[in-house]
Parts: sequence; structure tokens; C-alpha cells
Amino acid sequence: MLNTLRFIVCGSVGDGKSTLIDRLLIESGEIPVDRMNELERASGKCGVQGLEPELALLVDGLQAECEQGIAIDTAHRFFSTESREFIVADMPGHEQYTRNFAAGASTDDLAVLLVDVRKGLLTQTKRHSRIVAMLGVRHVVVAVNKMDMIGWDESAFNAIVADFHTLVADFGFASVQAIPMSALSGDNVAFRSEQAAWYVGPTLIDYLEAVDVSEVEESRPFRMPVQCVNRPNSESRGYCGTIASGSVAVGAPVRVLPGGAEARVKSIVARQGEQEIAGAGDAVTITLDREVDVSRGQVLSSVDDPIQISDQFQASVLCLSEHPLVPGRPYLIKLHTAQVGVTITDIKFKLDIDHGSRLAANTLGLNDIGEVTLYTSHPLAFEPYKQCKLLGAFILIDRMTNETVGAGTINFALRRASNIHWQAVDVNKVARAALKSQKPACIWFTGLSGSGKSTIANLLEKRLHAEGRHSYLLDGDNVRHGLNRDLGFTEADRVENIRRVAEVAKLMVDAGLIVIVSFISPFRSERDFARSLFESGEFYEAFVDTPIDECEKRDVKGLYARARQGKIANFTGIDSPYEPPETPSIRLDTIAQKADGCVEQLLLMLR
Ligand code: ADX
Repeated sequence: MLNTLRFIVCGSVGDGKSTLIDRLLIESGEIPVDRMNELERASGKCGVQGLEPELALLVDGLQAECEQGIAIDTAHRFFSTESREFIVADMPGHEQYTRNFAAGASTDDLAVLLVDVRKGLLTQTKRHSRIVAMLGVRHVVVAVNKMDMIGWDESAFNAIVADFHTLVADFGFASVQAIPMSALSGDNVAFRSEQAAWYVGPTLIDYLEAVDVSEVEESRPFRMPVQCVNRPNSESRGYCGTIASGSVAVGAPVRVLPGGAEARVKSIVARQGEQEIAGAGDAVTITLDREVDVSRGQVLSSVDDPIQISDQFQASVLCLSEHPLVPGRPYLIKLHTAQVGVTITDIKFKLDIDHGSRLAANTLGLNDIGEVTLYTSHPLAFEPYKQCKLLGAFILIDRMTNETVGAGTINFALRRASNIHWQAVDVNKVARAALKSQKPACIWFTGLSGSGKSTIANLLEKRLHAEGRHSYLLDGDNVRHGLNRDLGFTEADRVENIRRVAEVAKLMVDAGLIVIVSFISPFRSERDFARSLFESGEFYEAFVDTPIDECEKRDVKGLYARARQGKIANFTGIDSPYEPPETPSIRLDTIAQKADGCVEQLLLMLR
């Protein structure tokens, strides 16, 4: 069987990426002659390069690319030569499509980075180099294209190669090969160019055929993330998954992590039937000799060298969303087969793509690469990405939209989850609440500034107090004088503001109190996070639904007037968004009724 090389071709718009891929397909005979003719006709319509067929027209959907001037689809193409098979990912060069790019690159052995010799290293090339390095692509080819347009000038080629070596000095690539070429004419792609006698290295195809990308296969410890649990027969449960590293044999002891249970392998079933042993890459169902608690996302692991577990990590993250990644905001993390809640606790720095220097940052915007710390809602079994791509690469998902907002790699664990435990206490929430003869709860008011939250919250607490209830009112303006004195009104600061208050409210509910929270709390995901901290029936979201015109008309603190004059930045409802609750526990209409009417409505709900 021919061995396969997976590679990705990266370039900016107009570098000649599609042309190069087509050239590879043509030279390997993958493009039949009649398509060539078709191509020659079409190139009359929008080709720009004279008599040569406009090769770029060949790739599927290219008409669209031609018309829009950008490639928008991710495609995998297959071709082969006598000595090797190739899978090439054609990644769009336009900035917005970094997401597809990152998704594609993580499985590749090699990246061909296309550079237009007349333009040198563009930001996009630098970004792609960094991303492929971050995703563990170990080999790169710098394809210095369009050499024919500068008369095959050796010094221009050398200058780009020198720049590239400086750029990637600390990226950790195992090999870097630079090739001067013309993808359009095929010089140094498939055949040695007669125009550049000074170049003595291989052609691109020669190089791709020969490059050795096999990693030194150390015998790595056994790990298999569990994808699903099934019941092959009435006595046993089978754990299905693909072995990520190492091997396992019938009779071997395994530990299930993060759970921690141990058992021995009773049977291994693969597609071909039962087998004694299975290794990395095999998709298998494993049964164990005793019932243990195993669910999706746990990892079956060697007992001698078990996989690490943690809930705090240092990681590199690439932001894939138009909306910035914000510390403190709850996301979901998907790491191998596990999916749990996660927050970015800190952004250590973001990278300046052009110079590689470290910049201070409060958020990560689209295409930013940053070093962050993560805190997951549950411990995860993982490996640092450098040791195992499959067990160290993750994506971040927005809880509201389900959109993939980031891709990243775990660098190391900050602290073993096993080092901090929940300390058991004998006097608990139930006991404390019983002493107060009440059911603890959190009533969370949200609404615009001036909507009437504080007024209603205050009246509600007075009523509860009069009834002998033990309560506490957490009010935005007040908490911002103390605990949250360090926070302003940027998105990142508001997220942190609400995170802290939610945690404090939770402690107070644990203390047996009825806690009233009155904060604008403009974002759904943070209010959702707050809800997630409480047991069911403990959390009430009260939406003080006063339209902005009305709030502005009342303007009790004169803030709207000042915001309109541009004297206050990031004012909610003016130049900072408010996301109204979709399904609040209760909606209070402050136009239809006065504050005490709202309080009656609330008391009715609470009772
Ligand atoms: S939140 O958005 O982070 O939940 P919070 O409720 O703590 O806000 O604080 C809002 C209060 O701060 C407002 O009632 C108002 O008095 C004051 N404030 C000052 N600047 C702003 C601003 N830019 N946007 C909204 N409120 C502001």
C-alpha cells in the first residue's frame, strides 16, 4: 500500500494557491483532458494571465471565487503519484475563514505556505505559519511563487527565505524546505526549471514524495476516550472509542479517568470481530470484567502510567468568532469526547502576529491568538497537545448559539484537580435554612439602568423583612463601591462583575438567605451562568421590562443625558447592548403598574 501524505496549502488571496493545487492535480493526471479544454475556454472569460490556461478555474465552485475574488470553500482533494498518495486541503485565504483553516490543519503532516515573491511575507502567511505550528504541523514548505514574473531573481528568493527562517525560528518545525517556483507554468512544481540553474533543491512533487513525516513512535501509554457506552449483551457494557495512543490487551488492567475506577479488559471487539490486542488508531468496543461507572468523555487509561486529570489549564487559543472571547464568560469546551463548561480565567497575553511579541489584552478578537488560563466545570482527562494531539486539542463553543468560537491546545495543567477537594461541612444549607424557617432563594433582577430594579428590589426586601424573612440585597451601584471597585463597564468587566455577584449570591443562598440581586446584567450568557449555580427552584429571573425611551425620560441619575452627550462610554442601551431575557421567571411591566404592584406580583410568584 502506498503511504499517504496529508498536507495543506496556505496562501493569501491571489498568491496562486488554487493554481498550484490544480497544477499538482494535472501533473498527477487527476484532471482529464476534456476538462483542460473546458478550462481553456473558461479562462477566456475571467482568466487574467494571458495564453496559459487559468488553472485556478478548475477547482470546484471556482466560478464563484473568480467573481468574488476570494475562495470560500474548504475542500479536500486526492491525488497520487507512483510512490505516494496525497490528501490536500485547499484552505481559503481570506481572513474570515480562519475557522475552516484551523479545523483542517490539525490533521495534516505538512503545510505548503505559498508566498508571492513580489509581495513577500504577508500578515496572513505569518498567521497561517503560527496556526499550523500551534496545531502541531511539523513540516513546512515555503513555496515562493511567481518567480517567472521577476525573472527568477535568486536574491529575491533568498530574501524571503531568510525572512521566513527568522519568523519561524522558535515555532518548533521539524523541517523547512523553500522552493522557488511558478505554479502557473509548472516550473519546479513537477519538473526542474531551466530558468533557475542556481536552485539545486528538489521540485515540489519530488519533495512531497520523499519527505519523511513519520514521528519516532515511542511506545506511548494506552489511552482511549470513550465515545459511547453500549450493551453488546445482557451481562456486560461495552465502551466504544478510537484508541488515541498505546495499545491494550485482553486481561490488562485499565483505569477510567477522571472517575478513577479500575478493572481488567474482558474483551476487545473490532470491526473484524474479537481480538486479543488493539492499538492506536483502532476503533474498538472494550468490555471490562466488572461493572464500573464509565460515561462518554472518560478515558480508559493504562494503570502504570495513567492519563493526567485537571480542571485548570494553560492553553493557546485562537479566536474564531466575530464576537470577542471574554474572560469570565461561560463557554463549553469540547476536548476529545468530553464536553463540559469552561471559563477563561485570565488572558496572559495575545500574540502580535507580525512580530511575535506579547501584547496585553482583556479580550481576544477574531483571529487573535492568545495564551490563556482555563477553568472547567468538571475535571477532564487530557494530555498536553505536544504529547498527544488527540487528547490535547479542543474547541470552545458558545452556549447560546452553539457556534464554535475558538480552537486551542492545552499546554499544561495549572493544578491537579485532585489537589483541592470540597471540604465536607456538617452544618449545611438545609440546616441553616431550617433555623430561619425559610426556603433560601435568589431573585435576580435584570433590566436597563433606570428601569426601576433598585426601587422594586428595595420594596421587596422591606416586605420580606416585615414578614420576618432573612434576606440580603446585592445592588449594582453598591457592590461596585467595594468588591467590584476594580471593574468598569467594558464587556469583559461586566462579565466579571456578574460572575462575582453570582458566586456571592450563591454563597448567601447557601447561608440560608433570600438574596435579591439588582444588576443590569445585560448579557444572557452570564445570567444563564448565574442560574446554573443554583439548584432548581432556587433561582428566579425577574425582568424589569422598561423600554429605553421610558428609562431615558425618567433619567433619575442624569446618566442618559450624559451618555447622549458622549460623556459616558459603553452605556447600556446606547452604545453597549442589552440582551433581554427570552424566558424570564417573571416579567415586570413598570409602565402598566407601580413598584408596589410589581412587588405583589413577585410575592405571589414566590409563594
Ligand atoms: S452591569 O451591566 O455590570 O450589570 P451594574 O448593574 O453593575 O451594571 O451597574 C450599573 C449602574 O452603574 C447603573 O445603574 C448606573 O448607575 C451606573 N453606570 C455608570 N456607567 C454606566 C454605563 N456605562 N452603563 C450602565 N450603567 C452605568
